[in-house]
Amino acid sequence: MSINAIPAGFTPQPDSFRDRVILVTGATGGLGSATSLALARLGATVILVGRTVPKLEKLYDELEATGGPQPAIVPLNFMTATWAEYENLAQTIEQTFGRLDGIVHAAAHFKSFIRLEDLPPRDWLDTLQINLTAPYTLTRLCLPMLRASKDASVVFVTDDAGRAPKPYQGAYGVTKAAGEAMFKTWALELGNEAQSASGLRFNSWHPGPMRTLLRGKGYASESLTPVDFPEKVVPQLLWLLGPDSRGLSGQQF
Ligand SMILES: NC(=O)c1ccc[n+]([C@@H]2O[C@H](COP(=O)([O-])OP(=O)(O)OC[C@H]3O[C@@H](n4cnc5c(N)ncnc54)[C@H](OP(=O)(O)O)[C@@H]3O)[C@@H](O)[C@H]2O)c1
Repeated sequence: MSINAIPAGFTPQPDSFRDRVILVTGATGGLGSATSLALARLGATVILVGRTVPKLEKLYDELEATGGPQPAIVPLNFMTATWAEYENLAQTIEQTFGRLDGIVHAAAHFKSFIRLEDLPPRDWLDTLQINLTAPYTLTRLCLPMLRASKDASVVFVTDDAGRAPKPYQGAYGVTKAAGEAMFKTWALELGNEAQSASGLRFNSWHPGPMRTLLRGKGYASESLTPVDFPEKVVPQLLWLLGPDSRGLSGQQF
């Protein structure tokens, strides 16, 4: 599959996410928080999904301070979340907002670079839960709302190892590759929906190296020559989430 480019220098129109409801997982992380703030400034109602309540509350206050629509907090630990808890989350969104126009699957579990043969069994299971089961279950249970949207976009955030196997990436690398297979399968099975009234589309996006906690776990020495903060690449994600990507599904960016 070829990698598509997002228009360089894309800047979203003011209010381009007005009246749209977007769910962000890993909302309290580096990419998730930068994305959530940008969406709120552009008029979106952002559903902040995360596992750490104080971090969620702090982010909630930051979004409120933008003057955008009131966000929502959904505490959920993907390591232990049950199907019923995911169902409850989807029902709460339906009852509270009556709609959903997009999902950013940004949550991720990565501890350190490690050989597969050295991986603790618990870490294998945890990584599958957080990096694979969570995006699958959320996507599946939110499908009715996404189908009812007028412009629905689901973005799976990937990494180098998602695009080609790399050694020492442990379960993180394996789940990122499986995430690529998953988004593509959704797109193949529901391909015609991208052309329908909902515009429902599934794409994957590689943000490149970003200065976040996750990156720091693998590249601690980068504190001397840091890579860019996530804010630099958030406009690319906004392009994929917003109306400019309508009609494009099953694509890697
Ligand atoms: N940083 C990079 O260089 C880079 C490069 C390529 C791709 N990516 C991808 O970009 C995405 C965002 O990563 P990031 O760099 O922003 O990392 P990050 O700052 O570490 O954010 C990861 C997020 O995942 C959440 N999370 C972890 N375990 C969870 C669990 N059990 N339940 C629910 N949420 C959980 C974290 O919650 P807490 O805030 O509570 O810890 C955090 O909000 C990931 O999909 C990553 O694979 C990153």
